[in-house]
Amino acid sequence: MSISSTTIHWFLACKASDVPHNGGVCVKYGEEQIALFYFARKNQWYATQNLCPHRKQMALSRGMTGTVKDEPKVACPFHKKTFSLLDGRCLSDEAECSLTVYPVRVTDGLVYIGVSEDTAMVVV
Ligand code: FES
Repeated sequence: MSISSTTIHWFLACKASDVPHNGGVCVKYGEEQIALFYFARKNQWYATQNLCPHRKQMALSRGMTGTVKDEPKVACPFHKKTFSLLDGRCLSDEAECSLTVYPVRVTDGLVYIGVSEDTAMVVV
């Protein structure tokens, strides 16, 4: 699932320098956990829910990143289910639930993640 660009609320997630090259971090947004990934070679950013839908583990930010046929992906560290970072679909089992993906933009070294205004909330 992805969110429409007409309903996006951009929140400041972190500094770009906080995210390891070719790795991920977990960002909290209210009660939500979002996995943020940086693919250094192509200078591309991706964000998904941190919750793996397979066994409901908050783990995807610690997953192994890579590409399959030039499509960026993350493999959950628990049972290696693999998900597209473009649209969140499960690449290893089509019957498996897909991930919510979020748009990312970087401005002046700061990383912003777009969330649906419906889920926008005050971060304390
Ligand atoms: S919990 Fe992620 S693959 Fe099983």
